[in-house]
Amino acid sequence: MVTNFSTGIISTAKEEAVPIPPEFNLPLPSFTSLPPDKQYKTNQSGQTIVVGIEGSANKVGVGVLSYDPKTNSYKTLSNPRKTYIPPLGQGFLPKETALHHQAHIAALVRTALHEAFPSDRKPIISGVAYTKGPGMGGPLQSCAVAARTLSLLWNCPLIAVNHCVAHIEMGRVATQSSNPIVLYVSGGNTQVISYSNQRYRIFGETIDIAIGNCLDRFARVIGLSNDPSPGYNIELEARKPNLKFLELPYVVKGMDVSFSGILTQVEQLAKSGLKNGTLSKADLCFSLQETLFAMLVEITERAMAHCGQTQVLIVGGVGCNKRLQQMMEDMVKDRGGTLCAMDHRYCIDNGAMIAQAGIFALQHGIQTEMKNATCTQRFRTDQVHAIWRKPSGWKHT
Ligand code: FE2
Repeated sequence: MVTNFSTGIISTAKEEAVPIPPEFNLPLPSFTSLPPDKQYKTNQSGQTIVVGIEGSANKVGVGVLSYDPKTNSYKTLSNPRKTYIPPLGQGFLPKETALHHQAHIAALVRTALHEAFPSDRKPIISGVAYTKGPGMGGPLQSCAVAARTLSLLWNCPLIAVNHCVAHIEMGRVATQSSNPIVLYVSGGNTQVISYSNQRYRIFGETIDIAIGNCLDRFARVIGLSNDPSPGYNIELEARKPNLKFLELPYVVKGMDVSFSGILTQVEQLAKSGLKNGTLSKADLCFSLQETLFAMLVEITERAMAHCGQTQVLIVGGVGCNKRLQQMMEDMVKDRGGTLCAMDHRYCIDNGAMIAQAGIFALQHGIQTEMKNATCTQRFRTDQVHAIWRKPSGWKHT
C-alpha cells in the first residue's frame, strides 16, 4: 500500500502523458540510425515501453513508462512500490532490507504489468532499466538480479541507471522544467546540482551525513514512529501551534553543508529539555527543520545566482516536506523564479523514475551488456554522461 503524503502539498507534477518540447533534450535519433546492436523492440503502435526497477534503499518499486512518437510524450503507466518499515527505534539495515525487496519484487512486477496492460498478457517490452547505484549493496543486488532475469525472459536490453540522475529526469519530465537548479534531498543524499555540457554538476553537498539521515536519526532519539516515515512524523510535530524556536548551529561551508554537529546538539537538547519538561518534541522538530532547511535554501539560492537560473526543482524523499517547499518557494519567488515541486509519487524513490532515465538512455543508443550489469554503492551524479541532453552551445535546428 502506498502511503498518502499528498494532503496540502504543493505539486506541479503532471499525471497525464507529458509532451516534450523541442528544447528539452536532443532530438531522438531515428531508429534506423542506431547501430544494429543498439536497436530495440517497439509495440504495434510504435511505442517504446521501459520497465524500471528501483531498490537502492528501503523502498522497492517497479514502474512502467511509455514513449509515444505520435505525440512525443512520456507517460507513467504504473508505478507500484513497497516500503520496508523497521521496528520502532531502529533504522533499516542492509540484510533485512534486501530480504524485504526479494520477498516483494516478483509481486510488484506482476502488479506493475497488470496495471499498465490490463488486457494484454504479453506486452512488448523495449528494455529493463534498473538502479546501478548509489545505494545499499544488498538491496541494490537483489533488484539487479530481478532486472537481469526479466531482460533474459523478455529478450530485451538492460539499462543501468544512476539513482540521482533518475530523480532529476523524472522531475524534469513530471514538472516540464527543462533546465532547473536541482536540490536532491533524501535519506542518503544532499546535493545542489546544475546541468552543464552533458553532465549534472554537483555545486554543493553535505560533507558528512545526508539530511534525511539526520532527520531519521533524530526521530529515533525522541521516539517518533518509522511509519509512514520518520521524516514525515517530524514534519507533523513541527506543524503544531505555539512552538519555541531554539537556536542551533548553522553550518554552511562555502557551497557545502554539514549536519552531524547539529544532530549532536539537538540530541543533547532533547535529552535534557524533554526530561525536565522545558522543551517539547514539537519545539525540537520545528527548530531542527527550520535550521536545516534554511541552510539548503541558502546554497540553492547561491547556485541559482551563479548559474543565472530561475527554476528550482526539488527531488528526493525529503522534497515532499511541505515546509521545505514553502521556504524554497519564498526564496525563488523573491528572485522572480518558479519552484517545481513534486509530491510523494515521484519525490520518493520509485520505479518510474528509473524507467524515465533508462528510456532516455535507450533511445539515444545506450544499453548495458549483461556482463556489465552490476551494482555499485558509490556512483556520483557527475559520473554519468547525459547523452540525451544538449551540449553547451548546441542550437536546435
Ligand atoms: Fe532517492
